[in-house]
Amino acid sequence: MYDAGKVIIGLIVFLALIAFPIWYNVATGQADYVPELAKATKGEACVADVEYMKASHMDMLNQWRDVVVREGKRVYTAPDGRKFNMSLTATCLDCHTNHEEFCQKCHLYMGVDPFCWDCHIIPKELK
Ligand code: HEC
Ligand code: HEC
Ligand code: HEC
Repeated sequence: MYDAGKVIIGLIVFLALIAFPIWYNVATGQADYVPELAKATKGEACVADVEYMKASHMDMLNQWRDVVVREGKRVYTAPDGRKFNMSLTATCLDCHTNHEEFCQKCHLYMGVDPFCWDCHIIPKELK
């Protein structure tokens, strides 16, 4: 014999538990949570518009690599006219000095794991 009341209570508890992430996010306002990133330690602005950088920094890095490695050119001119050395370590990480709390924090959150650091150096490793 089974007890219909207990089955129903069991079901309600079960549904509440599987829905936990949903109502937890709604209640705490974290549905669109983005990790807090370390600020750039140099420069007023990035090498391009921030919205562009958010969406397309990987394409820019690929272009930089191709231009440096295939064409041997190293100077990039930003939309606002500033000039930069096209370098992952020497330029991006010169301003974004906290790789772990900037690049890596966002990548972990987004589930991306760039393999660049197999060869390229993260500056603190130089010290
Ligand atoms: C001259 C300094 C400087 C350089 C060089 C630089 N950045 Fe930035 N970057 C900034 C600043 C300032 C911001 C605005 C947000 C902040 O203060 O951290 C920013 C923003 C960003 C953002 C958006 C972050 C967000 O809030 O979502 C990304 C992604 C980014 N940079 C990647 C790069 C990459 C990749 C490179 C190299 C190709 C690079 N940056 C080179 C200064 C720099
Ligand atoms: C605001 C979040 C954010 C920040 C900050 C950020 N990235 Fe990314 N990055 C992403 C996302 C999302 C992707 C994956 C995009 C895709 O696959 O379309 C990505 C992809 C990449 C890739 C390509 C990886 C691959 O396997 O294809 C490289 C390289 C990269 N990021 C470098 C950097 C560097 C260097 C910094 C710091 C200077 C940085 N990113 C900061 C969000 C971020
Ligand atoms: C197998 C080793 C290796 C891997 C992995 C690698 N690179 Fe490189 N990369 C190189 C070498 C070698 C150069 C040429 C260095 C030079 O001429 O200054 C280079 C040059 C570059 C340059 C231009 C020069 C500079 O100082 O940064 C960029 C930008 C670059 N790579 C981006 C990337 C990105 C982004 C990734 C990951 C998605 C990556 N690389 C992964 C070996 C590698």
